[in-house]
Amino acid sequence: MDSYAVIGNPVAHSKSPQIHAAFAAQTGQQMTYTAVLAPRDGFALAVAEFRDAGGCGLNVTVPFKQEASSVANLLSDRASAAGAVNTLSFQGGKILGDTTDGIGLVRDLSVNLGVNLQGLRILLIGSGGAARGVIAPVLAEKPARLAIVNRTAAKAKELASSFARLGPIEVTSFAELHDARFDILINATSVGLSGDALTLPDTLFTEGALAYDMMYWTGPTPFLRQAEAAGGRIADGLGMLVEQAAESFFIWRGVRPDTRQVLSSLRAHLQVTRT
Ligand code: ATR
Repeated sequence: MDSYAVIGNPVAHSKSPQIHAAFAAQTGQQMTYTAVLAPRDGFALAVAEFRDAGGCGLNVTVPFKQEASSVANLLSDRASAAGAVNTLSFQGGKILGDTTDGIGLVRDLSVNLGVNLQGLRILLIGSGGAARGVIAPVLAEKPARLAIVNRTAAKAKELASSFARLGPIEVTSFAELHDARFDILINATSVGLSGDALTLPDTLFTEGALAYDMMYWTGPTPFLRQAEAAGGRIADGLGMLVEQAAESFFIWRGVRPDTRQVLSSLRAHLQVTRT
């Protein structure tokens, strides 16, 4: 049977096996999907072993997404732009690398949340790999403005200049946010994990802005809690997780699963919130 897996470290918490099993059952695809824990210094070897054992493809998660770019022989345009790979496909003698994170975010916003990014003012918080991965697909939707803010301003500037040719991207500062208004605020930092909180003015969340956290949790993240308390609309990253998985599934199997059903059962299971 065709075999796939998610590879990472840690990986035991990953929802990907559950999501892909649901996609396979729904679409009648004969395949297995497991989780592979790779040593932090043994990613390339673990990929080679999986492939040599007859594996067809891998999803790549933390901390290997950048390293996966160099394991691939051929990168999609979106993976080159993101500098990261979350989907490897083994085809003949070649390893193809792609990234579906950015399209996963855009699909969650457009299909699941009914938000068309065209003409909107977007704030992207963070400048690590998660932020970099979504910039090109977000700019492709033709927002009016994409501003990036980051604790380390130099990293935001570097990101903005490397994507400047793709659309209206600029850097802003936390101080400037007091007078700024956006339609969508996307948290691409790892702040929720550390227990720290971002220092954002409540004014950002009023007047119907949507606060989107690329992370998901069993409850609203601190970022989403602030947004909710200030009267904003909120969404966590569970939909993005399911949509990026669906795109990987499509790359491998040529079939697009129905994500709504899988997302709603995953959400019921996690008891996470979305309004
Ligand atoms: P990832 O690949 O998940 O994006 P990363 O590359 O380590 O992870 O990036 C983490 C992001 O969260 C960065 O934008 C980081 O800000 P810095 O560039 O200033 O490090 C941001 N971040 C992490 N902890 C933070 C905190 N306590 N306050 C503000 N931003 C934080």
